Amino acid sequence: MAPVNVVIVGAGIAGVVIAHSLLQGVPNAKIVLVNISQNFYWNIASPRILAKPKAFKPEQYLLPIKDAFAQYSSEAFEFVLGTATAINVTAKTVAVTLNSSGDSKDLSYDYLVIASGSTNPSTTGAVTGTPIPFKPSNRDDIKQIVEAAQQKIANAKEIVIGGAGPVGVELAGELAEGLGSKATITLISSADRVLPMIKASASAVGEKKLKEKNVKIITSAKVTGAEASADGTKSWTVTLDNGKKLSADVYIPTTGAIPNSSFIPAEFLDSNGWVKVDKELRVQSSSGSALPIYAVGDINTNNMRLSFKATEQAKIAVANIKADIAGSSERKSYDQGESIMMMVPVGETGGTGQLFGVTPFSFLVKFVKGKDYFVSKAPQYLAGKA
Ligand SMILES: Cc1cc2nc3c(=O)[nH]c(=O)nc-3n(C[C@H](O)[C@H](O)[C@H](O)COP(=O)(O)OP(=O)(O)OC[C@H]3O[C@@H](n4cnc5c(N)ncnc54)[C@H](O)[C@@H]3O)c2cc1C
Ligand SMILES: *[C@@H]1O[C@H](CO)[C@@H](O)[C@H](O)[C@H]1NC(C)=O
Ligand SMILES: *[C@@H]1O[C@H](CO)[C@@H](O)[C@H](O)[C@H]1NC(C)=O
Ligand SMILES: *[C@@H]1O[C@H](CO)[C@@H](O)[C@H](O)[C@H]1NC(C)=O
Ligand SMILES: *[C@@H]1O[C@H](CO)[C@@H](O)[C@H](O)[C@H]1NC(C)=O
Repeated sequence: MAPVNVVIVGAGIAGVVIAHSLLQGVPNAKIVLVNISQNFYWNIASPRILAKPKAFKPEQYLLPIKDAFAQYSSEAFEFVLGTATAINVTAKTVAVTLNSSGDSKDLSYDYLVIASGSTNPSTTGAVTGTPIPFKPSNRDDIKQIVEAAQQKIANAKEIVIGGAGPVGVELAGELAEGLGSKATITLISSADRVLPMIKASASAVGEKKLKEKNVKIITSAKVTGAEASADGTKSWTVTLDNGKKLSADVYIPTTGAIPNSSFIPAEFLDSNGWVKVDKELRVQSSSGSALPIYAVGDINTNNMRLSFKATEQAKIAVANIKADIAGSSERKSYDQGESIMMMVPVGETGGTGQLFGVTPFSFLVKFVKGKDYFVSKAPQYLAGKA
């Protein structure tokens, strides 16, 4: 029997989990995983990685993909180092620009999984010119990018963080600890409190912990612009919608997820560029017929863009691909639910968050996530065992 070809675009958490599950669950499958880099970046720990260069060794958060897939035969698994540039739904091919030669190659699929994830303005460096990588960078020189960002931050006297969601709050806590009295850290929230997505009482816990670390918090203000200063003394002037201006050596925006969807046909995208999926995480054609294409993780329209949600989705998509292959009608549905689960360390001593509607004790956040930002779990994730 000819193998069933499954092409997966993107080797973030979603793509990696799907690749392992299919390799272990579908005997007759040939899995092709396409990715821009050969190193898996444990971006969840990025607030600490960037603020405290000595907290982890690079080999703890940059893991070679090769080792994690070494157990599979070359008939079953192939890693393609390249960038997907187009999908042809009629021909069932994905065009990939190969890194090795720069040539474009068409990969044929029976099933396609789009797991290209998201990035953000800070990671791309679009606003300030210096990438501060909170996500896989879409480039292979992530080690150098991290080092450059660490250096820039280490030399700063004034840092302004735009956005007080979990990333902004975690970063502020880590920076305050990492730089101590050498720098002032200012955190800007457009809402009337930090972490507006969780309960007010939990926000208050976070705010108190940040203030204990001398983080300045500005609420009910939006950043409207960041400009390189002309006087040469300070790098940036950050303007707020209340007219106030702040100077900063480093300005770090922490809001705004950007879909990596440039290679995906426009008919599959909503107006913001996210891939439209049904409950089975399947992409619909414009005529409404189901295609053998799934979209999983940050890239689809489910807006809780979290890695544990990506893992949940991966399991649903794998079950449905298996059902497709087996011709079974037993299909699984995904519902992201309403309950917010979030742990937000504020430095190494505690934090806040919301678990099933209650604010977790600070020591729990410290113990579970604050200790090492799950960095010790990264190899398990990459091995598909998380
Ligand atoms: C600072 C920070 C902290 C976070 N902390 C947590 C947390 O504590 N808990 C939690 O659950 N979630 C957390 N998240 C969210 C989590 O990082 C994401 O939900 C998760 O990374 C999504 O995984 P993914 O596989 O869908 O996409 P991504 O991680 O974005 O991976 C997509 C991959 O596809 C590749 N790719 C993209 N386009 C192409 C292409 N055209 N061709 C080939 N390859 C391509 C990219 O290079 C990338 O490697 C955090 C996010 C940030 C920014
Ligand atoms: C895929 O490439 C990105 C860089 O864009 C990298 O951060 C990610 O970790 C890579 N995935 C694997 C499994 O190597
Ligand atoms: C897609 O593939 C079909 C069938 O092979 C072909 O006719 C068509 O030209 C291709 N489309 C593009 C945009 O290349
Ligand atoms: C692969 O090519 C992309 C795009 O040109 C580049 O950003 C990336 O660094 C390359 N990766 C390797 C391993 O050369
Ligand atoms: C991902 O999206 C960002 C922002 O639009 C872009 O800079 C980057 O090149 C994209 N990567 C790919 C592989 O499309």
